[in-house]
Amino acid sequence: MSNDRIKGMKSLTIVSPDDMHLHVRDGASLPYVVPHSSRQFSRAIIMPNLVPPVTQVKQAIAYQQRILAAVPPGLNFLPLMALYLTETTPVSEVINAANHPDIIGFKLYPAGATTHSGAGVNSLNRIYPLFEAMQEHQVPLLCHGEVTDKDIDVFDRERVFIEQELIPIRRTFPDLRIILEHITTREAVDFILGNNENTAATITAHHLMYNRNAMFKGGIKPHLYCLPLLKRNIHQQALIRAAISGDSRFFLGTDSAPHSKSRKEQSCGCAGCYTAHAALALYVEVFEDNNALDKLEGFASKHGAAFYGLQQNQSTLTLVRKPWTCPDHYEFNNDSLIPIAASEQLNWQVEHTQQSN
Ligand code: DOR
Ligand code: ZN
Repeated sequence: MSNDRIKGMKSLTIVSPDDMHLHVRDGASLPYVVPHSSRQFSRAIIMPNLVPPVTQVKQAIAYQQRILAAVPPGLNFLPLMALYLTETTPVSEVINAANHPDIIGFKLYPAGATTHSGAGVNSLNRIYPLFEAMQEHQVPLLCHGEVTDKDIDVFDRERVFIEQELIPIRRTFPDLRIILEHITTREAVDFILGNNENTAATITAHHLMYNRNAMFKGGIKPHLYCLPLLKRNIHQQALIRAAISGDSRFFLGTDSAPHSKSRKEQSCGCAGCYTAHAALALYVEVFEDNNALDKLEGFASKHGAAFYGLQQNQSTLTLVRKPWTCPDHYEFNNDSLIPIAASEQLNWQVEHTQQSN
């Protein structure tokens, strides 16, 4: 990382970052959202929760090609693909995944936990043989870490998932690489800290920026509704401490999840926050507010690559302090997309897109 001044820094140059957790949808949606991510990141791990889900290597590679077709000319952006784990995933698909460099791992969605998780897993015990194969073939497990039991309070679902599901998986498969995605609680931070180097977590910008008060400030804010839900301030503070700690088990994953305005603003609105338009500006603001700009590069550009065994990007990216007003909406199919920080002023922006890798 280089900077022209330590305090009141005006620019910040870091190794090009990677977004280790991203939703871009498919088809007509891609040209609206892929350019945002590809102007800031060199690589992103693409979530497979399409309808129908992306369960096989060959489907993922076809999806990867559709994403690449939406990358603006001149930008280098590599989508790395996660496969959707189901109770009927064959072990042979784990081996196929292990043999393909652009397949990063399997994403576990407990059935019913979140958007498009209906094809997910009802009983984790049933897929222990798959965890065994993933451990053997060194295929990482990316977890949406929430239980779905209707009797468990929605704010406790991550904590209970860790207690009931993740601790036994961790104990049974010590060499399995596990990423607990988009962590939201102090308990999740403690779980990562208490385990070995095979256990890591992604942290979103919105869970660092907000706690659950923001969802209800002055009225209900559907564009802050995501899963796992924003939690209390004490959890937000634990996430910030983890992100700025320099511990390589914590790294950037936006979980940016585009949904049209009309699907968010209705009597049963869907979950997901759109942050891809300004992801780095949002993160850098959190790091700056916490006097930790020197820790951004590790979190955004180094820890994730190292955990996944990827080469660090060769290119760099420069952020400049140049206030701008975030648009109140973006076009999205025949609707619009309301971003996080809509109409608000952000202090940082990306100066240069990355050079070739
Ligand atoms: O808020 C969320 N939206 N959480 C998820 O886990 C999925 C995502 C989506 O796909 O929209
Ligand atoms: Zn997600």
